[in-house]
Amino acid sequence: MTQLFLNIKELVQVRDAAIKKVSGIEMKKLPTIKNAFLLVKDELIFDFGTMDKIPDLSVDEIIDCSGKIILPSWCDSHSHLVFAGNREHEFVDRIKGLSYEEIARNGGGILNSTKKIKETSEESLYDQSAKRLKEVIALGTGAIEIKSGYGLTVSSELKILRIINRLKNNFDTPIKSTFLGAHAVPEKFKNNKAAYIDLIIEEMLPKIAKENLADFIDVFCETDYFSIDDTRKILTAGKKYNLIPKVHVNQFNSIGGIEIASKKNALSVDHLEVLSDRDLEVLKESNTIPVALPSCSFFLSIPYTPARKLMDSGLAMAIASDYNPGSSPSGNMNLVVSLACIKMKMTPEEAINAATINGAYAMGLEKEVGSITVGKHANLILTKPINSYGFIPYSFGVPQIEKVYLKGKCYFSK
Ligand code: NIG
Ligand code: FE
Repeated sequence: MTQLFLNIKELVQVRDAAIKKVSGIEMKKLPTIKNAFLLVKDELIFDFGTMDKIPDLSVDEIIDCSGKIILPSWCDSHSHLVFAGNREHEFVDRIKGLSYEEIARNGGGILNSTKKIKETSEESLYDQSAKRLKEVIALGTGAIEIKSGYGLTVSSELKILRIINRLKNNFDTPIKSTFLGAHAVPEKFKNNKAAYIDLIIEEMLPKIAKENLADFIDVFCETDYFSIDDTRKILTAGKKYNLIPKVHVNQFNSIGGIEIASKKNALSVDHLEVLSDRDLEVLKESNTIPVALPSCSFFLSIPYTPARKLMDSGLAMAIASDYNPGSSPSGNMNLVVSLACIKMKMTPEEAINAATINGAYAMGLEKEVGSITVGKHANLILTKPINSYGFIPYSFGVPQIEKVYLKGKCYFSK
């Protein structure tokens, strides 16, 4: 099967050499080709260039893209998309003045979602999750990481991870799965956190590894959740099963999570709404990529990750949705890109780099997705007729997507 996209007004994020990620000042550059063609063969990007260089061959399908832009689909490297129900009550409580931390201390928050998971059958949880995944794909997401962490018992954590596995098998979008047993201390263990950590290490991890249910391991490293020592212990245990760390750090407090995560060779450190000078120094010395989650900052009215500070220090960074019922009940990456520009002072070029190639890197998918490169999956966004790619973040709240392709197949059409 071959498809030829013709007269593309601008083909965005074209990279001849398969780069891993872009850092610092390089993030300001977004390579594009104006008046371009793109040839897709058997699910993969086969060739691209300016219209005058179109190869002479017969193809199965021709798609005229006059006035429209094509970019690689969004790579969302941080989500908690498998959850049950919603937490609208807490939303209203916060409007009335309670903070996210106060709600959690009163038994709401993550533990509230945990109760809902228990009451929900595996079938229903799968259906709710698949519906969300379809929604975000229609919004341009073409690769996604999904975490467990609303189970917090052996059976419920396995239930979530098995659902992620089913999504992996049933969808054409690459999915990475992260075990986040250390998301909160469950009610039953509230006076004995050490016993819960033992349960994670001695029971959950071996079972997850046996069924091959996770690619990564995560910990919510935060005051009132898991300490530096807890984090070290859990990440070390995960390493025995080859689970690479991707860690929640510095959402509310800087307690040394960045340092321990980078010592444990984490692929990414996520959140970083709070960032000390020391944290920045540690990041400069490490290979761990920071991931900002601007829709979480927006929804909780907490500070935004200091993106300028990170990029101006020469670092790479990614942006992701954090799609979850408590702090970001939206998986809309178009909005994430807008917020990155509006609230974090990233240029459209930096935000698009952060949401494509760097997002792919932050989940170990940089060889498959994240740029228009020969051999990568034809996971594409075709926009409506628009003036420039800057219109995507500019028109916040209104996706400019006309069609979404996954492995060359049209998955969504406006
Ligand atoms: O990334 N901070 C920890 N975990 C999620 C929120 C979880 C929840 O409130 O349900 C996050 O923001
Ligand atoms: Fe999160």
